[in-house]
Amino acid sequence: MARVQLDLQPSVDRSIVPPLTETTRLEAHEIIARYPKARSALLPMLHLCQSVQGYVSPDGIALCSEELGLTKAEVGAVATFYTMYRRRPAGSYHVGVCTNTLCAVLGGDEILAALEEHTGLHHDQTSADGTISLEHIECNAACDYAPVVMVNWEFYDDQTPQSAIDLVDKLRAGEPVAPTRGPLRQCTFKEMSRVLAGFPDGLATEGVQAGPATLAGFELAKERGDLAPAYPDEADRVQGSAQKQEDS
Ligand code: FES
Repeated sequence: MARVQLDLQPSVDRSIVPPLTETTRLEAHEIIARYPKARSALLPMLHLCQSVQGYVSPDGIALCSEELGLTKAEVGAVATFYTMYRRRPAGSYHVGVCTNTLCAVLGGDEILAALEEHTGLHHDQTSADGTISLEHIECNAACDYAPVVMVNWEFYDDQTPQSAIDLVDKLRAGEPVAPTRGPLRQCTFKEMSRVLAGFPDGLATEGVQAGPATLAGFELAKERGDLAPAYPDEADRVQGSAQKQEDS
């Protein structure tokens, strides 16, 4: 497979970033109304900003700060703490490669190296055409299917360097791609961000959910008739703690 060596996205050109509009503000109000305290809406609101602009821009930080009565520093501290919030525009397809223990043992490092070699992108870089960004991830919480690659947080299981390269090439070419589990088509970064902001796309139950490797322990327990101890009902629990207090 020929290397594609993508040009790197230069520093952010804010003139081409879509603006946050009155609609964004109204949707932010909708999010805030879901919570007893306004500030609890910060995380989904940051995803909302990303769903419009592809990253958390200074305008996104200002909007969250104004609507939630927080300082820009407080909003910025949250936005820079969590790695799901991007500080520069992500690609339409944000590719995360896990190199944590299990994935590393099974080839995650080779996958990351192959994608870097193939695309010329490295961690936290986006291609100039805005299609692909690359992230080095520490565990995608999908170790039962290691080595795993994620695109906009959708799983591509049991990857190899070649299958990951093929995946990226298809995404760049606009060819249809479906995650191993989950929806039957790959969404874009902005579409995924909108779902994370709490505006469902209706695809949550589409496709394979928990696969055989995830359910292996459960199936084995069922076969052997293993049962977890019953959880004491509330009355027993209260009685038990009253008894304990009496005894002490
Ligand atoms: S170690 Fe890679 S998904 Fe957990």
